Amino acid sequence: MESIIKLHQLEFEPYISASEIEQQIERLASEINCQYAGLSPLIVITLNGAFIFGAELVKRLNFQCEIAFVKCSSYHDGTQSSGAVEFELGLKIDPAGRDILILEDIVDSGTTYMALHRYFSERSVKSIRIATLCFKSEAYHHSTPLDYVALEVENIFIVGYGLDYNQLGRNINGIYKLKK
Ligand code: IMP
Ligand code: MG
Repeated sequence: MESIIKLHQLEFEPYISASEIEQQIERLASEINCQYAGLSPLIVITLNGAFIFGAELVKRLNFQCEIAFVKCSSYHDGTQSSGAVEFELGLKIDPAGRDILILEDIVDSGTTYMALHRYFSERSVKSIRIATLCFKSEAYHHSTPLDYVALEVENIFIVGYGLDYNQLGRNINGIYKLKK
C-alpha cells in the first residue's frame, strides 16, 4: 500500500489492505450463500459508498437475486455526521413481500441504517438484513444487531474502497485512516 495519501488538506495512512478486505468479503459471501440458498432476495446497494463492496460481494453470490440502488446521505461535509438522513434517490421497485438485504459501506452511528430499516419495515417486507463492509461498533448505539460485518473498525475516520472524504478517495484499493 502506498504510504501516505493526501485528500484535500488531510493525510491518510494505510489501515486495511485490499487482500485482507477481499478475504473478509469471501467469508461474508459464504455465510450469505448458505442463508439465502433457495431464496430470491432484493439486494439494496447504498450509493455512493457501497458500490465497490456491493460489486465485490454480489459477484460471489450464487443464488438468484435482484439488485437495486438507493442513495442516502447523512454526511454533508467533512468527517462529521449531520444526524439527519436524506433519501436523494429512492427505490424504483416495490419491496413488499421481499427478503431485503441491504449492502452498506460503513455503519457508524447507525442513523442511516435505522432510516433504511424503518423505510423497509413500513413496507411489509418479509425480512430485512444488512451486510456492511465496515462497522464502527464503538459509535453504534442501537439495539438492532448487524447481520454480516466484513470488518470491525476503530472509531476513526477512514477512506478508500468506496469510502470518501469530501468525495475523494473512493477509488483507493484498500482502506486508509486519518493520520494523527
Ligand atoms: P451513520 O449514519 O452514522 O451510520 O453513517 C453512515 C454513513 O456515514 C456511511 O454510509 C458513510 O457514508 C459515512 N461515514 C461514516 N463513517 C465514515 C468514515 O469513517 N469514512 C467515510 N465515510 C463515513
Ligand atoms: Mg454510505
